[in-house]
Amino acid sequence: MRRPTPLESALGSGLFLVGVLSAACSSSTPSAPIPAPAPALWGDLKPVVSVKELMNDMIDPASDNIFNAVRTVIGEKGIVETEPKTDEDWGKVRIGAVTMAEGIYLLKIPRPIAPPGELNNSVGPDASELAPDQIKAKLEADPVLWNAKIEALRNIGLEILEIVKRKDARELGDAGEILDQACENCHLEYWYPDEKDLMKKLDRRLLSDGKATR
Ligand code: HEC
Repeated sequence: MRRPTPLESALGSGLFLVGVLSAACSSSTPSAPIPAPAPALWGDLKPVVSVKELMNDMIDPASDNIFNAVRTVIGEKGIVETEPKTDEDWGKVRIGAVTMAEGIYLLKIPRPIAPPGELNNSVGPDASELAPDQIKAKLEADPVLWNAKIEALRNIGLEILEIVKRKDARELGDAGEILDQACENCHLEYWYPDEKDLMKKLDRRLLSDGKATR
């Protein structure tokens, strides 16, 4: 039999020492095999459409399943209140909530903001929106903020999923308002920030008016 080289014996005793130490630290249960770390993703993610199209063709229509579920319409027939009643009605809300919670993560895949050539309402004297290039620059300068807006929308989607389990129409009405705010919070940051400045100015004016009257 070949004698172990000095390195091999050193390694062997080292391993032995590690074995003794870990046995001393852990309880008497035999250590379970460590599972291989899961891959970050199961495959590549490739975008198909721009942010704008994703909004129009997925996020916006799916959010209507939530927004339209609880409504009060005052019309010719008087006050008509709508709320989910059947399993099918609640199923529709669930589709909306899953699409919000899962679908909004698609905004984490780098993709064009708008189809090529589209400038939004970003030119001319009445320009009130950022151009897609400006939106992209803003996003890339601070991806943490972009992600925070995404997570905020996801959280309300998750909340609505819980409400669907409880079938609580009143809570769903309130959640719809929070969902609307989560949409607006991102739009005010990235799409039409002028309106944000305007609202801040209004807030300040209200505050200073409040002080003046006190
Ligand atoms: C993380 C950010 C973010 C969130 C959250 C978000 N949006 Fe958007 N949305 C955008 C951006 C950015 C644009 C502007 C894209 C463009 O037109 O250049 C946009 C544009 C839109 C548009 C206009 C598309 C067009 O044709 O001009 C609609 C409609 C829309 N969003 C609906 C929604 C709704 C409804 C929600 C919530 C359920 C929502 N969005 C949540 C980022 C967001």
